[in-house]
Amino acid sequence: MVEVVTAPLERIRTERSSIKWTRFPSDVLPLFVAEMDFAIAEPVVEELVRRVRASDVGYLDGPGPLAPAFAAFASRRWGWHVDPARVRIATDVSVGIVETLRLAVPRGGLVVVTPPVYPPFFELVEEAGATVVEVPLAVEDGRWSLDLDGLRDAFAAGADAFLLCNPHNPLGLVHDAATLAAVAGLAAEHGVLVVSDEVHAPLTHPGAAFVPFLPLAERAGARSVCVTSASKGWNLAGAKCAIIVAGDAATSRLLCALPEEVACRTSILGLHANVVAYRCTDWLDDAIARIVANDRLLDRLLRERLPQVVYHRPRAGYLAWLDLRGLGLGEDPAARILTEARVALNAGHTYGREGRGFARLNLACDPDVLREAVARIAALVPTA
Ligand SMILES: Cc1ncc(COP(=O)(O)O)c(C=O)c1O
Repeated sequence: MVEVVTAPLERIRTERSSIKWTRFPSDVLPLFVAEMDFAIAEPVVEELVRRVRASDVGYLDGPGPLAPAFAAFASRRWGWHVDPARVRIATDVSVGIVETLRLAVPRGGLVVVTPPVYPPFFELVEEAGATVVEVPLAVEDGRWSLDLDGLRDAFAAGADAFLLCNPHNPLGLVHDAATLAAVAGLAAEHGVLVVSDEVHAPLTHPGAAFVPFLPLAERAGARSVCVTSASKGWNLAGAKCAIIVAGDAATSRLLCALPEEVACRTSILGLHANVVAYRCTDWLDDAIARIVANDRLLDRLLRERLPQVVYHRPRAGYLAWLDLRGLGLGEDPAARILTEARVALNAGHTYGREGRGFARLNLACDPDVLREAVARIAALVPTA
């Protein structure tokens, strides 16, 4: 049975109006923003049409069917038993993070982030009236991981919260259970609230084991919140619905103080799209299989055509983190690749200073798009 369908680029460009298709002229291959080229799951399409036909487009005041739908998915997929009573809704993951931090962190309080990391994290902390503390990922023999010593120091120095990216964007890093347990232990010891952004978790690749943070936190006695959505896994960013899950009873009570408007501003269409998406695991597994095939293809193409590029292969999600420093294109290779090769990537320096000379590439496309992108970049670097 066909699950995931990808239309030719020219057709997608005429049919879609998101930034992926409108930001750059049509001669640019859009491999930047985290949207998939894959057509969304048919049951989600049907649900959206059904809701619109029923004029079911009013306001929401809570998660309703989404809490048990997510709980069922989390239990089947990860063995994580979510108490539906601890689930709240927000417009999107970003809003969920901001509203949680606003409640939990005093004005000017300290929130730890781990660059290179999803660039809006820096802005979300500021939007919540808090201050960013950077604890860069540690790199050893080309392998990146959370820097537990750095986190211990930052927590001991008075951090109020830790914004954990689990799995980590842009590296597609799936943090292991021991590392996350150590983070939970440190958070408990220093009274730090961990806000775990788990939006990429459904897209964990076969062979990697995603570990939900909240059960570990509760066991360690740490306060925690998970913010997530079907927005990445099923390509529903514009549907505008996310959930905030409290990891413990005290944090759940704290979330009762979220302004009523947070739920009200969430899209009812997004909520129903999320409910159905969490049941579409065949579509999800097919999407992951395509991403994994594209990851292998990109690895092979880079070895053949651009051996100077170091590719940090994701274990979750569809984002490829590329060390382009060997290409001799300067600190912002993505800028030259855009203007001269007509391929749009995300510039590495926007993920923090550790990302200078890197770029992020979106793998959720037709394999021919990847082939063309690598050929164009290779043509820019004639010595390759
Ligand atoms: C780690 C991470 N968090 C949040 C988001 C954005 O999610 P939303 O659109 O639901 O705010 C993204 C988007 O790529 C992301 O990578």
